[in-house]
Amino acid sequence: MELSGKRIVLGVTGGIAAYKAAELVRLLVREGASVQVVMSEAATRFVTPVTFQALSGKQVFSDQWDPRVANNMAHIDLSREADALLVAPASADFLAKLAHGLADDLLSTLVLARDCRLLVAPAMNRQMWENPATCRNIATLRGDGIEVLGPTCGDQACGETGLGRMLEAEEIVADLVAHFQAKVLTGRRVLLTAGPTFEAIDPVRGITNLSTGKMGYAVARAAYEAGAQVTLISGPVSLPCPPGVRRIDVCSALQMHAAVHREVAASDVFIAVAAVADYRPAQVSREKIKKGARSAPPTIELTQNPDILAEIAALPEAPLCVGFAAESENLRDYAESKRRSKKIPLIAGNLIHDGFGGDNNTLILFDDDGEHPLAPAPKLQLARQLVARIAAQLGKRG
Ligand code: C5P
Repeated sequence: MELSGKRIVLGVTGGIAAYKAAELVRLLVREGASVQVVMSEAATRFVTPVTFQALSGKQVFSDQWDPRVANNMAHIDLSREADALLVAPASADFLAKLAHGLADDLLSTLVLARDCRLLVAPAMNRQMWENPATCRNIATLRGDGIEVLGPTCGDQACGETGLGRMLEAEEIVADLVAHFQAKVLTGRRVLLTAGPTFEAIDPVRGITNLSTGKMGYAVARAAYEAGAQVTLISGPVSLPCPPGVRRIDVCSALQMHAAVHREVAASDVFIAVAAVADYRPAQVSREKIKKGARSAPPTIELTQNPDILAEIAALPEAPLCVGFAAESENLRDYAESKRRSKKIPLIAGNLIHDGFGGDNNTLILFDDDGEHPLAPAPKLQLARQLVARIAAQLGKRG
């Protein structure tokens, strides 16, 4: 529950994407938020307030003159009670009103009366989005410190394709969760590796391992939440790319090695979470290896893969390097000796008794100040603590 105890006022304005706001309310509530929906009059033409009332468990407001509000101050009361205001979808008309400080209905008035952060998720036809008036308004809103989420490119309800599509509800929730995290990596560029590698034997077989990529993806997400620009070089996994993260897909250790070397110059931090295969087959058969009727089983000769992390840490202008050590025993000794041999300032160690792939983990961080055990927790929470320590080390480096 990433939004436990958070009070969100969700403004819904008139546009076909209003139907996605229903899903958005469901996801916000699932994350523990208390959601107060306020609709523009136009929004009620697309989805009825009853839908939002059922999903949020709260009365929905849209009328400035609502007799249910005893003091006629709904705009003040609602904005004062909120930890954040989110308007999704935000129509071109609403954004224009916002840019000019107009307050001619309940939603625009309460947004003007806010004393908390405002996030807007625009949704409109691509030509409305590209119109110079909308461009001017968006620039004004950004200048006013309003966070603009999306829009994205894709099919539009009008049958056209282009920029103006509202972000998906899940992406908006991820951005809202990120909004509440400390921005300790603003302006920093973070490069990560995650997942397993796959070392081909022949066109249909290979050597891999059981890494799911969950820890690496959680660290990528936590770094993005902390304000970093994040590039994730990922081995084959079945996870969606965390919102806001640039992902480069690779398969083998050599591909991962090449991609890291291509990207590393543009990074301040390198976090190696991938379970890189130590060895790969020396020869990759071009054809599928056949089971011989009488011949002995084939022997696969292995050759060593480069140690990506150790190489990056040895670069003259190395970014701050962070490693992971998954061990089944002697965690402290193995993690510390890896930290020393790879010459990295920080390593996160975990015992893999329960195997790979769970949503929770136990981590111990090792650095020059000693060891720092983190309580067992979901991987995203551990990732946030790791990110906080990385930010502190970056601060020390200056
Ligand atoms: O040497 P070992 O594999 O145990 O070290 C683990 C750490 O080194 C992890 O951070 C892993 O991502 C990184 N590593 C690497 N390239 C390798 C092997 C490991 O970057 N070839």
